[in-house]
Amino acid sequence: MITFDEKRNVFHLKNDRFSYCFSVERGKYLLHQYFGRPLREFRGSAERPAVDRGFSPQPGAYENERTFSLDVVPQEFATNGHGDFRIPSLDVVLENGTNVVELWYEGYEIKKGKPALEGLPALYASDDEAETLEVTLADTKGRMKAILSYTVFAGDGVLTRSVRYMNTGKETLRLENAASLCLDFPDHDFDRLSLYGGHAAERSLERIRLMRGTMVTGNTRGASSHQQSPFLALARPKTDELSGDVYGFSFIYSGSFRMATEVEQFGTTRVIVGINPDDFAWTLAPGDAFQTPEVVIAYAHDGLNGMSQAFHQAYRNHLLRGKYQHAVRPILVNNWEATYFDFDDKKLDDLAACAKDLGIELMVLDDGWFGHREDDNSSLGDWKVNREKLKGGLEGVAESAHKRGLKFGLWFEPEMISKDSDLYRAHPDWALHVPDYPSSFSRHQLVLDLSRKEVQDYVVNSVCDILKSGAIDYVKWDFNRHLTEAFSAGRTPEHQRETKHRFVLGLYSVLERITQSYPDVLFESCSGGGGRFDAAMLYYMPQTWTSDDTDAICRLSIQTGTSYVFPPITMGAHVSVTPNHQVGRVTPMQTRAFAAMMGCYGYEMDITRMSDAEKQQVKEHIALYKRLRPTIQLGTFTRLLSPFEGTKNETAWMFTSEDAKEIALFYFKTLSEPCTPIRRLRLAGLDPDAAYKIAAYYPAQSLSHDSDGSGTGTLVGRTFYGDELMQEGLNVTKINTDFAAYLWVLEKVMK
Ligand code: GLA
Repeated sequence: MITFDEKRNVFHLKNDRFSYCFSVERGKYLLHQYFGRPLREFRGSAERPAVDRGFSPQPGAYENERTFSLDVVPQEFATNGHGDFRIPSLDVVLENGTNVVELWYEGYEIKKGKPALEGLPALYASDDEAETLEVTLADTKGRMKAILSYTVFAGDGVLTRSVRYMNTGKETLRLENAASLCLDFPDHDFDRLSLYGGHAAERSLERIRLMRGTMVTGNTRGASSHQQSPFLALARPKTDELSGDVYGFSFIYSGSFRMATEVEQFGTTRVIVGINPDDFAWTLAPGDAFQTPEVVIAYAHDGLNGMSQAFHQAYRNHLLRGKYQHAVRPILVNNWEATYFDFDDKKLDDLAACAKDLGIELMVLDDGWFGHREDDNSSLGDWKVNREKLKGGLEGVAESAHKRGLKFGLWFEPEMISKDSDLYRAHPDWALHVPDYPSSFSRHQLVLDLSRKEVQDYVVNSVCDILKSGAIDYVKWDFNRHLTEAFSAGRTPEHQRETKHRFVLGLYSVLERITQSYPDVLFESCSGGGGRFDAAMLYYMPQTWTSDDTDAICRLSIQTGTSYVFPPITMGAHVSVTPNHQVGRVTPMQTRAFAAMMGCYGYEMDITRMSDAEKQQVKEHIALYKRLRPTIQLGTFTRLLSPFEGTKNETAWMFTSEDAKEIALFYFKTLSEPCTPIRRLRLAGLDPDAAYKIAAYYPAQSLSHDSDGSGTGTLVGRTFYGDELMQEGLNVTKINTDFAAYLWVLEKVMK
């Protein structure tokens, strides 16, 4: 998979999806050469012309060679101050106040498998699944080294990159920018895709023409955030869901990040990914090393689905861990939207009884069970059950679920501290703060200083004290504000700017300790919904609550947006009441159910208050989901119609089982149209020569009548060849209701 051509000094990283090539130029510089479809061999047919470019300086040793400048070459790693004026990989301040080092090629090593990154989540692989190239760059004055790591996976369309910075000299260094990735493309003929949003409105797709100058996706919130996701893609302009070249970047990090593109004067494009330097500095003493988080790069020539499937496959096989990695996830009911803070033992017992009757498998007790938390003003940090509210304690609620054969789950928000808490009264300095100014509040709470070991221990112990009873099968781990005044009472001034990154490292350490101690517990991460839906959190917790917005129509966009990077098995998706609590919309039950079936399914409503007819319908939906669950959660996901493109009025998702024998095809039409245009839904990825039987069809449910009477129902029981289903598709024209949701189940019959 990884070779070094000694004659041409070219590293060639290759599998059956792509080739990635770079060379060692003049024995010093790493120049990027090629990234795209696999090449037999890289020989440099598109050799760059040697041109004397005005205002592009020569490094000192090449004063008389006016055609050589670091400003005009594609680099794998860019340092400051030697004439490359684009965004650098590194900004390091020396004791003499300068920020210029000369990091030149020193050597390389190719390793089987993939070494772990110290203290950080990353993709993992066995020795026969991957190969890793480590290239060492060393400063000519011996001050520091940078080790660039590249891993190629056999059969996966992804490559990972990260950097380890080492202080090898005698002076203290201060890193003010330590990027994980620098990658230069020879042109800028790209659309730039990113995912933006807000609380309860996560991950809308933004697709714009890549512009000259610098464009940044990122934040300084101390979290991967609802606002901008740590994802970026560059796609050739005609790229659509099923065709075209696309390069996707996903950052395995949960803190402030920066993903920048820079199109420079000659039209080339640089991509820089790393911890956000606006929010970071790190003091590196002699002998110390700094490991950056990892970037996953997906390349596909078969469109946005190709990119997404490369991410999905890599994350399912090389990121998720533990018992639930490849296991279907339980259907849950969560009491948050059912009761908010207003519950007691009796109410929860009623919920459990009803859940059992409907076929639900896990009952989750959300916020409000601890301290004296009757609203969101108090008690975060005091992880002791409120016995006034729950007379039988947590054991009682767990028992009520367990005796009915349900699993039991519990909500925590362990990184936080309420001002009104015993914990704050005992340890006010455990909250992140600056001594001279009042702290900023968000949801009446402060953030614990997880950069400190004693605070990490407190969090681990208080969560484990509850888990050790063995009564908890599932944990929802929440994080409901971002970081302000991010300074630590335990740290000397020169290390204070490290606090936000140290907070993230502290969190990872806490999560590793807790999740490894309780391997049978299913963990779901949450941050006011999907405010920390990132690959790093998925390394510890294999699913994430996708959004606090549970409206089915909003969820079509939120979940489709999330699917550009993350597979359905990682997305919590629940049915809630109408009118919906976030947007007030009224949608049919079937539409809510079908939208939620895309992910780890559940209910987030007072199921005890449903009519008998509704309960019957819910039972049918749960039975249907159980039947389709392996296909949805363990199969391949394809977007056929995206709510961000085309009419923006239609969404279609296709799930193909692992053995390719079953297909679940969901089609949603948001608003009904007069004079309905003829519409076809074309399937993708089928075997053109195989016949597929339409095994079941669920027409849309309408709020005013039972079904819209779409004619495709007559196809049930008939078989069609894959080529016709892909070229002609199914007719989805006859729809006369808003918020319509359809499902077809297809079965592959032998050729
Ligand atoms: C966050 C979560 C919700 C719920 C509340 C409880 O907003 O996203 O699902 O758990 O906190 O306070």
